[in-house]
Amino acid sequence: MVPRVIAIDGPAGSGKSTVSRAVAERLGLEYLDTGAMYRGVAFAVLERGIDPGDTNAVAELARLIPLEVTGSVCVVDGVDATVAIRGPQVTVAVSTVAANPEVRAEMVTRQRAWVIERGGGVVEGRDIGSVVFPDAELKIYLTASPEVRADRRASETQGADTGAVAADIRRRDDADSTREASPLVEAAGAVVVDTSGLTVDQAADVIEEMLG
Ligand code: DC
Repeated sequence: MVPRVIAIDGPAGSGKSTVSRAVAERLGLEYLDTGAMYRGVAFAVLERGIDPGDTNAVAELARLIPLEVTGSVCVVDGVDATVAIRGPQVTVAVSTVAANPEVRAEMVTRQRAWVIERGGGVVEGRDIGSVVFPDAELKIYLTASPEVRADRRASETQGADTGAVAADIRRRDDADSTREASPLVEAAGAVVVDTSGLTVDQAADVIEEMLG
């Protein structure tokens, strides 16, 4: 049987994680946050004192590191890194790590294996519809206005300054969209859903309706 895959891509703060989780629950599928995988590799890189720009050392670590992402929990080489992967150091380093083509090749292999093991899933990231699962049953490109995205990210972090969060989002949008290896793009055949004025449930409704 062909695994049932729903691919959800989009920039930071577009609502990918919350909406993907809601869609997965409705469909009775598991959910994979591929951004957490790249963050897990970045965490391991920093823990070991490796320079994120050292392409070969980072690629080698990515191939070897045991990484388990289950729901919102991320375990890196037996260490629960769920909180640390959302911290500022990892958030800065992850753009460089995710731009490394060998790291991407390894993560794509792991993501495909994850789906095969489970017979499908809701997979969210930046290149899921374009590279990882171009034949997904449904490909969604989630987006939202820059103001809404910055507000959402700021509200997730206590004491965060919205201006600084907006600047960080712009930096990452730019890095994710302009990198050579699998940049963030609207995949061919993807349906664009703007979540600016939508609640999580409303966005999940829109996606569920597309599945018929
Ligand atoms: O979704 P996020 O902010 O947790 O993603 C973390 C970083 O990983 C971000 O810089 C984009 C990158 N990423 C990627 O390049 N490809 C993916 N499939 C998922 C995330």
